[in-house]
Amino acid sequence: MTDWIQRWKEGKIGWHREQVNTKLIEFIDCLQLKSGDTVFVPLCGKSGDMLYLLEQGFKVIGVELSQLAIEQFFDENNRTYTINQTEKFQVYQGENITLYCGDYFSLEASMLTLVSAVYDRAALVALTVDLREKYAAHLYSIISTDCRLLLLTLNYPQSQISGPPFAVNEAEVASLFSQGFECQKLQCFNDIENEPKFLRAGVDFIEKATYCLHKTGE
Ligand SMILES: C[S@@+](CC[C@H](N)C(=O)[O-])C[C@H]1O[C@@H](n2cnc3c(N)ncnc32)[C@H](O)[C@@H]1O
Repeated sequence: MTDWIQRWKEGKIGWHREQVNTKLIEFIDCLQLKSGDTVFVPLCGKSGDMLYLLEQGFKVIGVELSQLAIEQFFDENNRTYTINQTEKFQVYQGENITLYCGDYFSLEASMLTLVSAVYDRAALVALTVDLREKYAAHLYSIISTDCRLLLLTLNYPQSQISGPPFAVNEAEVASLFSQGFECQKLQCFNDIENEPKFLRAGVDFIEKATYCLHKTGE
């Protein structure tokens, strides 16, 4: 955990993108959102995708370990906020957006009762294999039945380069979300040409996949 906080302090945030993720734009409809619905963004960093969700008329709840990341999100987007301290989180409250500064694994279902959908870009794949299992189980326990999840993953030969981001293949997604979720793969393609770090390391392929999951509770 301290590792992530240190990365933010040193500005080593190679995963951060200035542009809105094209897969969010392309597949947002699978979340079946209505205006005013709330989207949960786990391990949110200072992602501009949250701004996109706000601009589409949705509310956002995020969780992020780094205070720096959260303050940069508000400051760089000229948004004001207030801060409240709770037992486990510093809660940053802006217009239509609540960012919990603290550990994802400390979130409780009562904090996400209004959430209709989850958007995961670079959250699951940021975690080691043991934490991925914990992440999926915790997600199941804190979101309501009928919630939908747009999940973006990466898969590549893990032996050729180390993570994060870690390789997560389709079998792992199916296994992580086998209990209580319906899982639909929306897209998967090799994008090695657009990944210079992986190309330079001689990695054979990097598949980018998009899934829509639905918590049915069964
Ligand atoms: C790879 S980044 C992705 C950020 C964001 N989703 C994006 O697309 O830009 C992963 C983020 O998760 C945060 N993080 C890692 N472990 C966490 C945890 N247990 N609870 C909350 N945030 C965490 C890190 O500080 C980092 O900002």
